[in-house]
Amino acid sequence: MKRFNAFGLIHKALRAMLFDVDLELQQADWNKPEDVRQLISKLQQVLNAFEHHAYIEDNYVLPLIAGKDRHLQQELEGEHQQDKILTEALLEHIEAIQKPGNPLEKSIHANAIQYAFHAFVAFNLDHMNKEETTFNRVLWQYYSDEEIMAVNEQISKMIEPASRENGLLWMLRGCNAAEISMLMQKLEQQLPAEAFHQFRKKAVAQVPGKFRYLLQPAEPVHALY
Ligand SMILES: [Fe+2]
Repeated sequence: MKRFNAFGLIHKALRAMLFDVDLELQQADWNKPEDVRQLISKLQQVLNAFEHHAYIEDNYVLPLIAGKDRHLQQELEGEHQQDKILTEALLEHIEAIQKPGNPLEKSIHANAIQYAFHAFVAFNLDHMNKEETTFNRVLWQYYSDEEIMAVNEQISKMIEPASRENGLLWMLRGCNAAEISMLMQKLEQQLPAEAFHQFRKKAVAQVPGKFRYLLQPAEPVHALY
């Protein structure tokens, strides 16, 4: 039986953020101050999103297995600590590249930022796999899908609206057609009409072109006779 993966959508959003920035890092012209400013701002958004995500997991998700598999809980908490170390390393290079320096120094920091971010990506891809496989196996042993969905719902209510909307937009960027349709239907039921209309406008700019048809408003149904 297919079980509910509580990490599924949010991890797809986080991966979309990682891939998006990593590609921009590879394409950046580090001699253009505007490019560098934009990249740094994007990098900081990604690092903040991962820090916030780890906080939620440490406090509301990993404790679900505290009495069941303490070793695994500690291992995943430890990986969140390791993530902080990788983040610190990245922030040091980000700080350094913003200081006055000659082109050679700038290019050394630019390279360091790229390698540090690749390390961050690699570590987190592996970490998220572990949560979706090893952690989920333990979780599914002790909790029903309904119980896990209830925790998910509780967490989603705790997230402040702007950050929730940002997370949803990244989910749309990272998800497949079925997931996009499901998310949009759910939001249409939850939001007032005008708020949903505004969200859909932002979503159109965010989803890949091939999925834009999924965001068309439903055609009014006319009686045939
Ligand atoms: Fe995690």
